[in-house]
Amino acid sequence: MNSLKHSLNTLLTELLRDVSGNPDANANVITASKPEFGDYQANGVMAVAKSLKSNPRALAQSIVDKAQGKLPTLVARLEVAGPGFINIYLADSALLDRANTALTENAQLLPRCETAQTIVIDYSSPNLAKEMHVGHLRGTIIGDSLARLFEAVGHHVIRQNHVGDWGTQFGMLITYMQEFSTSADDNSSNLGDLEQFYRAAKARFDSDLDFADRARRNVVQLQKGDPQMLRVWQHFIDESLRHCEAVYQKLNITLTRADLKPESFYNDELGNIVNTLRDRGLLSVSEGANCVFLPQFTGKDGDPLPVIIQKSDGGYLYATTDLAAVKYRAQVLQAQRSLYVVDARQSLHFQQVFAVAQAAGLAGSEISLEHIAYGTMMGNDGKPFKTRSGDTIKLAELLDEAVRRAYDLVTDKNPQLAQAERENIAEVVGIAAVKYADLSKNRTSDYVFDWSTMLALEGNTAPYLLYAYARIKSVLRKQSDSASSSQITSLEDPLERALLLKLLQFAEIVEAVVADCFPNQLCTYLYELSGSFMRFYEGCPILKAEVSLRDSRLALADLTARTLQKGLHLLGIDTLEQM
Ligand code: ARG
Repeated sequence: MNSLKHSLNTLLTELLRDVSGNPDANANVITASKPEFGDYQANGVMAVAKSLKSNPRALAQSIVDKAQGKLPTLVARLEVAGPGFINIYLADSALLDRANTALTENAQLLPRCETAQTIVIDYSSPNLAKEMHVGHLRGTIIGDSLARLFEAVGHHVIRQNHVGDWGTQFGMLITYMQEFSTSADDNSSNLGDLEQFYRAAKARFDSDLDFADRARRNVVQLQKGDPQMLRVWQHFIDESLRHCEAVYQKLNITLTRADLKPESFYNDELGNIVNTLRDRGLLSVSEGANCVFLPQFTGKDGDPLPVIIQKSDGGYLYATTDLAAVKYRAQVLQAQRSLYVVDARQSLHFQQVFAVAQAAGLAGSEISLEHIAYGTMMGNDGKPFKTRSGDTIKLAELLDEAVRRAYDLVTDKNPQLAQAERENIAEVVGIAAVKYADLSKNRTSDYVFDWSTMLALEGNTAPYLLYAYARIKSVLRKQSDSASSSQITSLEDPLERALLLKLLQFAEIVEAVVADCFPNQLCTYLYELSGSFMRFYEGCPILKAEVSLRDSRLALADLTARTLQKGLHLLGIDTLEQM
């Protein structure tokens, strides 16, 4: 099913093109900016009239006239307004039909994409040398939500967890591991705290020349495929992945081992990448390193900026691996879109990788390469989020704290609940609060991580939405004897109609998020939907209404609960039946 907005825009655009003779015209339909403008409005007539040098109101009127007698059942009437807007009034019967079909079929009010695409989403992608830290939180949460959304509308999503497992740091880490033991298994306890292990290895590396030397040789051996080195390395990687998986599980992230495409996966391809670049005449040697210079990338002084492909010692770089990954995603996975949900600070890196890949023919116009950038998570002091001592905060610890704080909140509000119950609620609310706080902000801006706002029961927060959902469920439970196959039959009260229209708009919000990858639009929608429900709930008695009206209102409440649940699920957030 197409969204209301999509259907209306198609209808009005066709009419506008017909009447104006302009095949590129767009009616530009949006939800009405005020209730007195109807349900939707077409804003695109004025621009077309201007280009035709004709009167916009007259053009709008001829569209309305042309549609007379031929309107689809969805539209009750059209009306010219102001300088040339067209106000669109929807037919109650069509709104009821859409909602009731969803209710009967136990379906969601989701749109379907017109053509299913293969979409690669690269997200989370931590560096395995260290423990996941808050820097990976945003990408993991936003990427996972996008993966769920694209799948929900019918696209084929391929998740790619491009973890860093192959850099020079691994030489240092495996050398340090070797010092501890002859058998790799002895290391398990030392790897319990990866952060500490990394710091200790680094200290050794920085203070002992002989150690540093061995580390450098070991990484070369590793990358050449030495079995002994590979064994130690593999052990480290397994431990580190277990740390990541614990975080994914806490966060309810859909990534699995099958989604791993680590940097090491591309190792054998890197030589080919260099050859391709050379064959295409793109490679030049600068200070012993193989580089690509593209005219569009220049430094402050106007000098061309290099993309370093291979260092003078033969080592490859982050960009080299990414070029191999572009090729794999375009040629092997045959994706039409490849999204990189990565920190905005890597934006130059991706611009360069995409440009070099295109220049080298590793990816052509069949694939769209997109950096889905996000800003930095800041502390209350306006600086990137750190502990008091200035260390980066481990993700696992941050999430534990969220659950602890949610527990206090629940205990405060509902001291009579059994402890196990409170713990269960705290688990869901704490994680939801962290995820929602992030998802509800425009991803491109930096955002301030603040416990008290994210755990507030009022405002656009997870606790508010979860509470709204639980409240609807409790209303529904009170009337479990009502006909389960209930349909919505009443739209007499404007609050009922407003809520139903809002519910049907779920589809166009999902369409919008899928189009431009801003999940905060879905958050705003769910918040407004809850508000719309609360107004309905306060203004329209449910359980005290006569039976048929009661059942209609219960059905409306039921559809609201389902839509809230689905919307939160698409954000990767679990709901609670009781709070
Ligand atoms: N491992 C990198 C980091 O932690 C992120 C990788 C993002 N994905 C990619 N294809 N470069 O910063």
